[in-house]
Amino acid sequence: MAYPASPELRASTLALLGGTWTRLPSAVAQARVWGADWCERSTPFVHTIEGEVVAHVGVLEIPVVLAGRSCTVAGVHAVCTHAELRGRGHMRGCMEAALSWIDARYDTAILWANDPEIYTRFGFVSQAESIFVGPVPGGPDDGLRLLARDDPRDMDFLATQLARRCPVSRRVAGHDGGWLALIDLALWSPGPSLAWIPALECVVVYSIRERFLDLYDVIAPQMPSLAQIAAHMGSQVDTAIAYFCPDALGDHGLVAEPTVLIDQLMVRGEWPSDPQALAFSPLARC
Ligand SMILES: CC(C)(COP(=O)(O)OP(=O)(O)OC[C@H]1O[C@@H](n2cnc3c(N)ncnc32)[C@H](O)[C@@H]1OP(=O)(O)O)[C@@H](O)C(=O)NCCC(=O)NCCS
Repeated sequence: MAYPASPELRASTLALLGGTWTRLPSAVAQARVWGADWCERSTPFVHTIEGEVVAHVGVLEIPVVLAGRSCTVAGVHAVCTHAELRGRGHMRGCMEAALSWIDARYDTAILWANDPEIYTRFGFVSQAESIFVGPVPGGPDDGLRLLARDDPRDMDFLATQLARRCPVSRRVAGHDGGWLALIDLALWSPGPSLAWIPALECVVVYSIRERFLDLYDVIAPQMPSLAQIAAHMGSQVDTAIAYFCPDALGDHGLVAEPTVLIDQLMVRGEWPSDPQALAFSPLARC
């Protein structure tokens, strides 16, 4: 369900969010240019005072793969109350309205919290995420084309690849057709590198830190192996860190370690009882 059509309410909501996260309104505008409209994707639960939005809980309906099964979960995001009006129950009111809306529709709600204590009182429990680390032989990086976030043709190309991708993992992955990935990319500053590898028909979302390849996502209709990817990422690379479940990356020697990302995954409702280490790609978070 989209934002209300009223331009005043939309502007007031985005002003509240911008007061809390200063870069958010420009990221929302950027994502819209790329074809992903926050106001169409998010359902806002708000508290208003004299027509001004002073508290907000947003809900995204996110198609995912969980334990091999496609389903849709509710992603709670952008939880905030105006700085001068905190401690008066405004967020609680919005959250309770959001959760009763969610409970009528979905078995599972997820969020990423930098302060998990806020959410345990609403039935969310922390779910550990991992990174997956191991040796890989790098190879010359002349077979890739970097995509520029400020080049509309490159971003159109990326949106096309996102629309035709397969989930990055069969265990835990977003499967949103691209809108969430584009919103996450717009919010990610300065953001990762994006490179098209024609030989593998994939876009790799990554950073290189000397000999380390930080692999955030692989956008492809058919997943290449980690060895094939690493062979295009630079001869100095000898270690990969995958920030998503690497089960679709072919044979690899990646081993789970605790994630280094700060925000904690929290889950409310049904969740697979699979004890294996997991991680959502940074482009599948909300
Ligand atoms: C976190 C935030 C949304 C709380 O809003 P609020 O309107 O002050 O919250 P409420 O008054 O409705 O509090 C609801 C409950 O949450 C608790 N709570 C609020 N902030 C909390 C915090 N930082 N840590 C732990 N508990 C918190 C309150 O004690 C209250 O508990 P109770 O109802 O069980 O007694 C607000 O402080 C904020 O906007 N912070 C900046 C943005 C932010 O950090 N968002 C969360 C991102 S993970």
